Amino acid sequence: LFAGPVDFVKGVTAMANLPPADRLEVCFAGRSNVGKSSLINALTNRKNLARASNTPGRTQEINYFALGEEKYLVDLPGYGYAEAPKAVVEKWQRLLKQFLQGRQTLRRAFVLIDTRHGAKEVDEEIMKLLNKSAVTFQVVMTKADKVNAATRAANLAQVQETLKKHPAAYPEIVMTSSEEGLGIETLRAIIANMT
Ligand code: GTP
Ligand code: MG
Repeated sequence: LFAGPVDFVKGVTAMANLPPADRLEVCFAGRSNVGKSSLINALTNRKNLARASNTPGRTQEINYFALGEEKYLVDLPGYGYAEAPKAVVEKWQRLLKQFLQGRQTLRRAFVLIDTRHGAKEVDEEIMKLLNKSAVTFQVVMTKADKVNAATRAANLAQVQETLKKHPAAYPEIVMTSSEEGLGIETLRAIIANMT
């Protein structure tokens, strides 16, 4: 699906340093450790393109990846991670909010939610922000391999219920496992079909 090369472009810590807004982009937002970087690796079929890690707070910059010359995939720092120094957390959160509110070419934000936990308060805060900024977002459930079918169904229903409160939400939720490849083709097709 991504015919051309996929390349790391740059990591950004200030809005002023974002690449030129010259093509459509999608971003991956979600709580720390939810699996954003792993999902980008799975989508691009590259093991270590985006750095994933067991340590929450791994991604500390806005990381741009180019799909040929067509699109950008944007890996974001996680939110809701309280262990890092307060000043650092606040800096990330500020940047994250500026980005989600102010990036013209942002076509869709994927909001990742851990299938084990369902939507939390912090997820809803991000959804509200996206609503306010009129950015379409789509929920991607992650780590589906870690739970049984009953938990999957229950937490999917919980997220569906939550989305009713957020009109900017795209109705289709994608269930994924970066580990086992579940939903990866579906998500690739969603991104590939954006023009
Ligand atoms: P931050 O950059 O810290 O915000 O985290 P992140 O959202 O980028 O998460 P990351 O991709 O680094 O993954 C966090 C941990 O979850 C890593 O240990 C991954 O190996 C693991 N993980 C990610 N996706 C999956 C999945 O689909 N299944 C399983 N079992 N583990 C996963
Ligand atoms: Mg990350």
